[in-house]
Amino acid sequence: MRAWSRTGTGGGAGGGRIGFVPTMGYLHEGHLRLVDYARARCDRVVLSIFVNPLQFGPAEDYGRYPRDLDRDRALAAGRGAHALFVPDARAMYPREPVTRVTPPAEPLGEAYEAAARPGHFAGVLTVVAKLFHLVAPQVAVFGRKDFQQAMLVRRLVTDLDFPIAIDIVPTTREADGLALSSRNVYLSAERRPQALALSGALRVIETAWRGGETDAATLTARGMEVLAAPGVRPEYLALVDEALRPVPQATAATVALVAARVGATRLIDNVVLGDGLAADPTIA
Ligand code: PAJ
Repeated sequence: MRAWSRTGTGGGAGGGRIGFVPTMGYLHEGHLRLVDYARARCDRVVLSIFVNPLQFGPAEDYGRYPRDLDRDRALAAGRGAHALFVPDARAMYPREPVTRVTPPAEPLGEAYEAAARPGHFAGVLTVVAKLFHLVAPQVAVFGRKDFQQAMLVRRLVTDLDFPIAIDIVPTTREADGLALSSRNVYLSAERRPQALALSGALRVIETAWRGGETDAATLTARGMEVLAAPGVRPEYLALVDEALRPVPQATAATVALVAARVGATRLIDNVVLGDGLAADPTIA
């Protein structure tokens, strides 16, 4: 009964409306804006910190993913999160293999990040489903920074009937346009300026679209000229709809998705053309 008694706007008995912000920690202003968003709309905010081993590939950075729990605790408390949930990996996954949530066999679940990182989204959706059961929120807040992830989580709650609203918050950026990411800590002083190729490519596409260019091939070619900068290895640059299907003509609802390696660091970014990068909040 618990799941049903927590649906709707009322929330659980006496507990109020719970807003949930799942993270892997090493918190930055982008995470904290999700907390602000949840605080403004819910009675209680729960933030989870769990570096989920299931969503990392064997050659990926699970072991060296940045972690600083003391700092995270202080940042979350300072922003008014009411509870931190920091489960242990053995508690989350007492046995291997575990039953997994598989993303849908369509571009949303198979293209772009799914193609680049096999098994990644099964790991994400599995842990998100577990966290949703454990925290039982009415609202869960995700960042647009991970656009494909956010769209897949929306599908998860629809397809598997989770009584949870999924809210998506715009990407928080540095003043120069770089999207905040826990992985930005990997960028050396030499690499940091090169990382601007991602937001730079998105900006060129957005500007050309605002100037009247709608042909997707032309727009991606313009963006690619900026993305293919020294030190940057482009992985994809694509104009897609909300289901991540490529579009031939760009509209206000079109999303430009980009992924590239800057040195050894893999970064992703995106912009919804009708909103534009300027609509994203920046930090000083
Ligand atoms: P993590 O990368 O820590 O991100 C946690 C949440 O913060 C995600 O919803 C992500 O989109 C959001 N976020 C990250 N950078 C942001 C930025 N610059 N602006 C706005 N939001 C931003 O995403 C994950 O963790 C994991 O996959 C998780 C969902 C927790 C499952 O393990």
